Amino acid sequence: MDRTIGILGAMAQEIDEVKALLQNKTVVTMGNREFVVGKINGIACVVAFSKWGKVAATITATLMVQEFGVTDLFFIGTAGALADGLKVGDIVISKRLVQHDLDARPMISRFELPLLNRIYVDSDPVLTELAGKAVTNLLERGVEKMVGEQAVKDFNLAPKLVYGDIASGDQFINSDEKREEILGFLPGIQCVEMEGAAVAQVCLEFGVPFTVIRTISDTADHNARIDFNKFIVEVANAYSRAIISELMRLL
Ligand code: ADE
Repeated sequence: MDRTIGILGAMAQEIDEVKALLQNKTVVTMGNREFVVGKINGIACVVAFSKWGKVAATITATLMVQEFGVTDLFFIGTAGALADGLKVGDIVISKRLVQHDLDARPMISRFELPLLNRIYVDSDPVLTELAGKAVTNLLERGVEKMVGEQAVKDFNLAPKLVYGDIASGDQFINSDEKREEILGFLPGIQCVEMEGAAVAQVCLEFGVPFTVIRTISDTADHNARIDFNKFIVEVANAYSRAIISELMRLL
């Protein structure tokens, strides 16, 4: 079966950079969303802005799978760091996804996905390794090649790649109380964002392999919002374009 690669991104500007990689583009509008269909390196792709939050991302991911027949799905975006040692500019690739704001107690345990009998959804090991290889290649070439010397200085970038668990919820986390609350219940979590676990559930239920690639844009504390917009413009957009471009070269 021919592959169709789905690429979803959490920020419109970031995904615009990825759309620019597509050849022979056509734009399909559906469900108040734009899906750009085309090819990267001769491989069929569908690229869309997921929109923010779990519900929005669920709609976009479901349409990608059901209407566009994607066979593999990559989600790319930014995240707030929770784990010690993670810094702005580092990259986290998902091992597992969990919804940190899901709580249907007392019927089932905290964080458990109703009727799915699990808390975590595993990302696909092959896609995860492939994404890791793409990021490793880029980091070996040097981050300044991706973002330029000025951004490296401005953000003090010395990126590393980490594989780990990612938590999603319908909140932008920007306080020590909230980040410590999440870490208290889910101690192994590397970073927090607003879409990945929803996309993971869609992929689980439709049997589509996926992985999530997140660049750390902030430390999910009181500084989070200040850093965020500047980081998107100066760093995250370039990372997304470079990572997807390298990933498609390796596929
Ligand atoms: N995406 C990037 N940073 C985030 C944060 N601090 N909380 C939730 N989603 C994010």
